[in-house]
Amino acid sequence: MKIFIDSADLDEIQQGYGWGVVDGVTTNPSLLKKAVEKRVGTGERVDLKEYISRILEVADGTPVSLEVTEVTGEKMIEQGKRLHELFNPIAGNVYIKIPVNPAFKEIDATHFDGIRAIRELTASGIPVNCTLIFTPEQAFLAAKAGAKFVSPFAGRIDDDLRKSAGLQFGKEDYYPAEGMEMDARLLEDNGIVSGIELVEQCVKIIEHYGFATEVLAASLRNPRQVRESALVGAHIATLPFGVIKDMLKHHKTYEGMELFTADIVPEYANLK
Ligand code: G3P
Repeated sequence: MKIFIDSADLDEIQQGYGWGVVDGVTTNPSLLKKAVEKRVGTGERVDLKEYISRILEVADGTPVSLEVTEVTGEKMIEQGKRLHELFNPIAGNVYIKIPVNPAFKEIDATHFDGIRAIRELTASGIPVNCTLIFTPEQAFLAAKAGAKFVSPFAGRIDDDLRKSAGLQFGKEDYYPAEGMEMDARLLEDNGIVSGIELVEQCVKIIEHYGFATEVLAASLRNPRQVRESALVGAHIATLPFGVIKDMLKHHKTYEGMELFTADIVPEYANLK
């Protein structure tokens, strides 16, 4: 499973690549806003075009997803092409992120505009990461339209299930991959019992039909979700910087380090 960093923070991206474990970057408007505000907060003047260019250079040819902000088919296609034309020449690694459905509510007329945009951008040779996926059938349609990546949002499904059950939880709290029983009833969202199950069903459909699409597990907030994404065969997991760091932590590892370090005989340490 490839690991992407879910961040627009250049310092985090540089560190992640420096560790040699990062295979790509995903950004979205909220992550970019946060990263830029952090820099502006320290008195820095940020030129957004230059800032994004630096992220692309650090990623050095590995995929970097840039999201459109428009919400209709024509405009998403136009903006997607513009972003690709502007930034892809830097390192040849721009993926355009398109919401699977840009509508704000059920009666909106733009439901298929995301799918149309994926189809059109793909036909122009622009790779698309289809985002905001909450059902396997959304992933299926996005793959049919030609998306290179489909991004199921695992953590947000878990949030939804927990909220509907009236549970108290923190954003990073683990939610079981097999779902939770409440009042002898399994919590579910139209047959999906957890974010990881959503990822798993997307993987099954994509692989069953041999689509040239990779499932990019997104909205992962803790290492156990990363493990479970790998166990269900996600092709990629995109992770906040903090989750990448947390993946290496265990109190027995620290304890083992202390014990081994205490036992070092000087002769061994000085072997030449
Ligand atoms: O990769 C999608 C991600 O940025 C959303 O994460 O934690 O806000 O649901 P989250």
